[in-house]
Amino acid sequence: MSQTPGQTVQRALEQIKERTMKEEPTTYKRFARKKLTPERLKQWQTWLHFNSCGDPELAKMLRVAATFNRDICADFWGPAYWLTFLGSSGTGKTHLAKGAWKVWQKKAQWRSIRGVQVPMDGYYWNWDRFINELRDRHHGVFQDACRAKFLILDDIGAGHTSSSFAIDKLYELLNARLDKWTIITANHKLETIGDWDQRIASRLIRNGNQCIEAVTQDYATRDIPSQDALGPSEGDQPSDG
Ligand SMILES: Nc1ncnc2c1ncn2[C@@H]1O[C@H](COP(=O)(O)OP(=O)(O)OP(=O)(O)O)[C@@H](O)[C@H]1O
Ligand SMILES: [Mg+2]
Repeated sequence: MSQTPGQTVQRALEQIKERTMKEEPTTYKRFARKKLTPERLKQWQTWLHFNSCGDPELAKMLRVAATFNRDICADFWGPAYWLTFLGSSGTGKTHLAKGAWKVWQKKAQWRSIRGVQVPMDGYYWNWDRFINELRDRHHGVFQDACRAKFLILDDIGAGHTSSSFAIDKLYELLNARLDKWTIITANHKLETIGDWDQRIASRLIRNGNQCIEAVTQDYATRDIPSQDALGPSEGDQPSDG
């Protein structure tokens, strides 16, 4: 707890910073999955109801979110990874996490096992609520989250959830979820997470896990003409690929 990052993590943090600032996100060095075509990206954008507002930071978030959704739908049994959204408030981190949850429910959750459609277990947890469950000694909740095929942890480190109890639980949980589909959001920088626990920061960026740090304007303060706001249409289904 509260260690300063070691040299290896410090170097990785600098690299991720460099990468999130300059490179296109989601360069799949490890998995060699295809890049989304502009048409597919547009479809996902409509389905996720996400307005990039011509902002490269938001465009970056959209691309990784769309790619993650595509991968969990189309290549569920392939190599799984984590997607972490970090950064300033009101940039659409929770919005994209909720969108991914809908995609999961509609398109990814049901899997054919020996010809029978079976629902895979997945959970969406607000981290604050999750920690309260653990404080109330609901241990089953923790075990389920460790084992689930898909997990969303929204707003880690919010409020009192950067206490040492919460950080220890986060480390334990994430360690159990290496190579499992996971989305994490936090209103913090990677450096701050490294200050809580360098092992957590390191896991967010290793082994092909995607970590996007978007620091930009709050959506609520943007001047958006109403016709530009994308509305979700219930009948719409994201297409695979
Ligand atoms: N790019 C976007 N396109 C459409 N709606 C957006 C976008 N960004 C944010 N919103 C809307 O703005 C509101 C705040 O967004 P959201 O809760 O996702 O922010 P956040 O990044 O999770 O912030 P915080 O760090 O405070 O939790 C929500 O109603 C969300 O639907
Ligand atoms: Mg949020």
